[in-house]
Amino acid sequence: MNPYDQLVAEAGGRPFAAIVGWPVEHSRSPALHGFWLRQHSIDGHYGRLPVEPKRQALEELVVFLKRTPNARGCNLTLPHKVEIIPLLDRIAPGAARIGAVNTIVKLADGSLEGRNTDGFGFLEALNYGAQTWRADAGPVVVLGAGGAARAIVAALMDAGVPELRLINRTQKAAIDLGIAFTPGDGRRIVVDRWDDRGGALDGTTLLVNTTSLGMKGQLPLDLDLTKLPHTAAVYDIVYVPLETNLLASARARGNRCIDGLGMLLHQGRPGFEAWFGAKVTVSAEQRRAVAADLGV
Ligand code: ATR
Repeated sequence: MNPYDQLVAEAGGRPFAAIVGWPVEHSRSPALHGFWLRQHSIDGHYGRLPVEPKRQALEELVVFLKRTPNARGCNLTLPHKVEIIPLLDRIAPGAARIGAVNTIVKLADGSLEGRNTDGFGFLEALNYGAQTWRADAGPVVVLGAGGAARAIVAALMDAGVPELRLINRTQKAAIDLGIAFTPGDGRRIVVDRWDDRGGALDGTTLLVNTTSLGMKGQLPLDLDLTKLPHTAAVYDIVYVPLETNLLASARARGNRCIDGLGMLLHQGRPGFEAWFGAKVTVSAEQRRAVAADLGV
């Protein structure tokens, strides 16, 4: 059976959404949305839809979402977050600014709107995980300048961070990102060299790892934390494993730590609310369920 027919059969006439990617088998989105569907006794479905990285395949996806009455939208993961943009009817301003869409919502008139909820998820998990952290309290450090960093840098600058120190192995990518997201009101994005990353931690209120270093199967992040204030929060968006070497070292010296699972869960909230019409929160029980599903 083709994946579209299979998804429609699984949904059985109920409203549905899905994670769309290539590959898509590894995604934990069905576990987190499935938890909310059960928690709220909603008669809906959240499935998986493998879609090849070809324009024609994405065009088919758009046609499918529009012509299937009970399709409410979808999430997008690699490698579709950028390529989908010209095919949608409307891009929400936040997604346009980041240049990536992770959530599609079918509006009442049947048109498709692209949104990006990664920055929202990042900030919500930060607010829950480090309740005393304040955006305007001082400089923050962000490691990495890839797709995830774009949403996170935008969110932190929007939240009012006075100085963001951006550090990436390939410095050019950090410079480009810094130019794109410097607000023009005197607050700064400062690009430091990768080799100087330990020194950049001096006086910061928050350290964020958005690189893939520390992820299962990747090299660990090699970072000297000596200069990091003990009051700083340390946030690693990696979630496999939950306790990366960065978080273990930071925790051992008394820093407040936030793992990547919270961001994964919180970024799902706006999509769920738009598709299924119920407001949802992230609970310890959901965290345990999704962590178990991840095997972490
Ligand atoms: P994502 O969408 O998850 O952000 P990405 O866009 O591929 O993924 O970005 C990966 C990030 O991890 C980049 O900042 C990358 O640095 P480069 O721009 O120099 O490639 C960073 N990264 C990956 N492997 C790295 C390594 N071995 N050392 C340092 N940084 C690394």
